Amino acid sequence: MAYKKIGIMTTGGDCSGLNTAIQRIVDGCIQRKWAVIGIQDGTDGLCCTPAKTVNLTDENFRFVSSHLAGSILSNGHAGAENFISAAHAGKLNAFNKKLKKSLKELKLDALILIGGNGSLSLAHTYREIYSDLSLVCIPKTIDMDVPLTDKTIGFDTAVQQLVSYCDQLLLTARSHHRWFIVQTMGRDCGKLALNAGVAIAADAILIPEIKFDTNNLIKHIKQSHRDYGIILVSEGISIRGHSGKPADMISRALNTANIPNRTAFPEHIQRAGDTVATDRILAAGFADTALKAIENNETYVMTVLQNGEYKTVSLNDFFAAGKHEKDPHIIGMQTSNSYVESDDTLLHIATDSGIYIGEKKK
Ligand code: F6P
Repeated sequence: MAYKKIGIMTTGGDCSGLNTAIQRIVDGCIQRKWAVIGIQDGTDGLCCTPAKTVNLTDENFRFVSSHLAGSILSNGHAGAENFISAAHAGKLNAFNKKLKKSLKELKLDALILIGGNGSLSLAHTYREIYSDLSLVCIPKTIDMDVPLTDKTIGFDTAVQQLVSYCDQLLLTARSHHRWFIVQTMGRDCGKLALNAGVAIAADAILIPEIKFDTNNLIKHIKQSHRDYGIILVSEGISIRGHSGKPADMISRALNTANIPNRTAFPEHIQRAGDTVATDRILAAGFADTALKAIENNETYVMTVLQNGEYKTVSLNDFFAAGKHEKDPHIIGMQTSNSYVESDDTLLHIATDSGIYIGEKKK
């Protein structure tokens, strides 16, 4: 097998499972007698002179961190030179050229970019940066909003984190005869809230994809035979005429109806937690698929899991398959997103088991 030098970079928000993916890529490279380096701090480490890199074959790294959340490589500093700051300064072209030059200086044959839909959309749009090597992407995000893949690294662990969090809250909720409104992450995609909500049998799950009626929510709570429970609220929902955090909006509505309640914000704990087994298996599958893609000289591709099968799809297909949204930070840039579909099985399961999910027709 021809010798190759591989680089690994993690970008965007972190999640659990990144270190497992890095470890499995390193293992695969060692098997193939390939060199492998990590690029630290995402694109802001890549654009340094020289680029910030680390040797990943050190056994201490492998043993200590492979199941821990976060990224051993770090994902970058807030406010550092990156796509967003370069775009704001009108220096995007110069920034992109710098990245391309850095990659060339590292003499990489391939780069494995582990990122979410923002990073993958950027890689698709600014593909010229990677024209001197093979670019293989691995999707990760707790939001699970990447089109064409049934799973993204970090999602299952995030669901588990929410489940453990809500299990604990329910005990105190019961003791005090009150409701907890738990605000989940997920941006404008409700998959995280929906999966966690079904797992804990929440009383209600409110997600951005489905309109809800506050009066019906209150009616639903009053009709339950309990005076405590959990309402999961995805951070992307909104109520006309109200501003502020979604959980606070729902809390105010419950207060008005004299329903005792508290809000809870698990926040970045959803991106933490020891990587659950299914995320580790997914990371192993994606690592193996990425290395095979490099062997086959594929480029501008992304690993996916579709109906139990690991394979690659082109970044063009990834981009075309999603719903396009304006990037909130970069003018003219679009991201490709997936959402909860109206025929999602979990919606039916939730409705059939008495969970209020909004005004979805049966
Ligand atoms: O995209 C992952 C995510 O955790 C979202 O669910 C959340 O809205 C956002 O990132 C939080 O980002 P930050 O780390 O900048 O607070």
